[in-house]
Amino acid sequence: MLEKIEQIKSDFDKALQSIGDAKQLEDIRIRFLGRKGLIAQAFTLLAEAPADLKPKLGQGLNQLKKEIEEQYRKAEEAFKEKEKKARRLDLTLPGRKPQNGREHPLIQVANEIKEIFKSLGFVIEDGPEIETDYYNFEALNIPKTHPARDMQDTLYITEDIVLRTHTSPVQIRVMERQKPPIRMIAPGRVYRRDTPDASHSPFFHQVEGLVVGEDISFADLKGVIQAFAHKMFGRDIRVRFRPSFFPFTEPSAEYDFSCVFCRGKGCRVCKGTGWMEISGAGMVHPNVFKAVGYNAEKYTGYAFGMGIDRIAMLKYAISDIRLFFENDLRFLNQF
Ligand code: PHE
Repeated sequence: MLEKIEQIKSDFDKALQSIGDAKQLEDIRIRFLGRKGLIAQAFTLLAEAPADLKPKLGQGLNQLKKEIEEQYRKAEEAFKEKEKKARRLDLTLPGRKPQNGREHPLIQVANEIKEIFKSLGFVIEDGPEIETDYYNFEALNIPKTHPARDMQDTLYITEDIVLRTHTSPVQIRVMERQKPPIRMIAPGRVYRRDTPDASHSPFFHQVEGLVVGEDISFADLKGVIQAFAHKMFGRDIRVRFRPSFFPFTEPSAEYDFSCVFCRGKGCRVCKGTGWMEISGAGMVHPNVFKAVGYNAEKYTGYAFGMGIDRIAMLKYAISDIRLFFENDLRFLNQF
């Protein structure tokens, strides 16, 4: 029995040498001091020892238990101290340089567009992305049966509330609260039920333009679009208008810029045509004036749309619209 006590003591000393992690420390506690550990076992054996030896052995065992408990406590403390030191900051290490944030390329292009129109005398307006059916469609002379209202295109929240499919509802909101003359643009996000691919995204960005006054003509519209094209892409860019249809303009047109890559000669990007489609425009429809209480006899006006994403793709030769929305720093860091 005395030998056994010696044995436990030397095993314990050996075990203490090899504490590598918290688990090993805990294993030692269980092995020696646990409820069924070596010391507890030795106490069980004590019951079977001859009566005359019991006091001495008991004393020895109690002594052993106290020593081991004490040493274990010290070892545990030392271990925790060591761990704490290891976690402490090493102030001599070189720091990590934080990356600078920057404006998203779409914000940069939107700002550039805003500056150009401001220089042409336009003010910046804003409207909600969650719109009522009335502002998004009805007031813009888009009847209930118009294909643009099809579930395919519009993201409905309720029967009467939609995610705006274009920035044109801002025209209505501005005219409702202001009398002519009006000369505004409204940049912002719009939504459509589209499956994403290189040229489609369920949300994208438009700039709405609206000018209302006395004797505003289609020639004024052409002049402003032309001036914008020159300021944005250079003085050699040409603009063309093709007849088209929008319920809220009459006459309506779609307009193109000569290709900004081949400067109109025809290349892969413009599919050899020399032209790139930009958006729609036209003279404000009398029904729209009626909806906002303007005198359609007295006032005329023009409106135009413009895709910010599209302009940005042209400016930076980006072939996939999804790159704007994936937040890949390898892409964003280039702007
Ligand atoms: N709102 C139209 C669209 O989203 C563009 C447009 C704006 C057309 C203003 C004419 C006048 O396609």
